[in-house]
Amino acid sequence: MTDKQLGVLIHGAGWVSGEHIKAFQANPHTQVVALSSRRMESVKKRAAEAGLVNIGMYTDLCSALRHDGVDIVSICTPQHVHAKNVIKAAEAGKHLVIEKPLANRWDEICAMRDAVRKAGVKTVVSFVLRWNPLITTLKSLIADDALGTIYYIEIDYQSNIASWWSGFEEARTKEKGVGSMLVAGCHALDAARWLAGQGSGQAARVTEVFAWRGGWRKGSTREYNYFTGEWADGKPPLEYEGLEVYMLKFDNGAVGKVSSNYDCIMPYTFPIEIFGDKGSVKDNRIWSHKYPGQKGWIEIPTILPDSSDVSHHPFQAQMDHFVDCIRHDRESHCNLDDAAHTHEVVFAAQQCYETNRPVSLPLR
Ligand SMILES: NC(=O)c1ccc[n+]([C@@H]2O[C@H](COP(=O)([O-])OP(=O)(O)OC[C@H]3O[C@@H](n4cnc5c(N)ncnc54)[C@H](OP(=O)(O)O)[C@@H]3O)[C@@H](O)[C@H]2O)c1
Repeated sequence: MTDKQLGVLIHGAGWVSGEHIKAFQANPHTQVVALSSRRMESVKKRAAEAGLVNIGMYTDLCSALRHDGVDIVSICTPQHVHAKNVIKAAEAGKHLVIEKPLANRWDEICAMRDAVRKAGVKTVVSFVLRWNPLITTLKSLIADDALGTIYYIEIDYQSNIASWWSGFEEARTKEKGVGSMLVAGCHALDAARWLAGQGSGQAARVTEVFAWRGGWRKGSTREYNYFTGEWADGKPPLEYEGLEVYMLKFDNGAVGKVSSNYDCIMPYTFPIEIFGDKGSVKDNRIWSHKYPGQKGWIEIPTILPDSSDVSHHPFQAQMDHFVDCIRHDRESHCNLDDAAHTHEVVFAAQQCYETNRPVSLPLR
């Protein structure tokens, strides 16, 4: 175990970076020592907001990586620059927190994986819902046989992402965002893998996927804001379908359905249904063979994954877990290797749109 204080560089000073900084500031084993982004104005603003003084401030990653005492780099830039950021930081020997989605192409993810393996650095990918209190509770109940063998799981990402969403201007485009499941619905896909895995630290792997896409928002310049309930015209259009629906087969025999739905006119929701041969789950309501006298659903009072706000997401638990992995020389269950598989399913589904046929994994 190492007792060394770990220095952190945050790269990309936007919305999510504020939560990464707070989490590292609250961890007793880490200190934020540098901040970099495209514009110095953003770096200075974020540093002031976070109360960071005497830190390195940079507008290019290579210089920031040379800052004294950087052990961990948090990649908080938009998805289309993650691959080159991650490869550079890994080559510099830094441990990495990588925001989802990992990248826009499967070959980029393979190159990131090669660079990380070669450097022997540790990684965690921000599928932050793996640390959400409802999801950690369900994972623990599943490992404790409360549901028996899981045979069906259904999880949906339902959020009318629009101009209010930081990063929408780039993420709405086919070139920089690619699709709704890659940009945001990947949280539901990853949660389905995680909860379909029966062991405590294990996510199931997908062996086959079939996907459709649809909805009404592609190309529309009419937008709904569910925070204010107002409609607006003349907005930049979504360049891909807002709805994607995947049917999945897992390596343990379970099947699943996940969707990413930007087109819904309602507040954010993330419904979860899990069916096992000894019990069932509907969000935070449980029916289980473990409670033979049960006459109604048992409701767990906990925090649900029911907000799109980054301040609601459990980044503290994710970063504490990762720092623990580094200090005790352990791999995270959500490292680049594992998270790459969630993305592999997305790229396989993209093939379905071309061929209209199920795609088997692993991808060649
Ligand atoms: N895990 C989660 O739940 C979660 C939640 C939200 C977002 N995210 C992910 O986090 C990432 C960032 O999202 P965000 O919402 O923070 O976006 P954002 O608010 O747009 O911030 C992105 C930041 O990166 C900087 N940047 C852009 N291009 C750059 C480049 N080429 N080189 C260096 N810096 C660059 C921006 O630059 P300036 O210096 O010009 O300001 C901006 O400060 C995305 O991948 C997103 O999907 C994840």
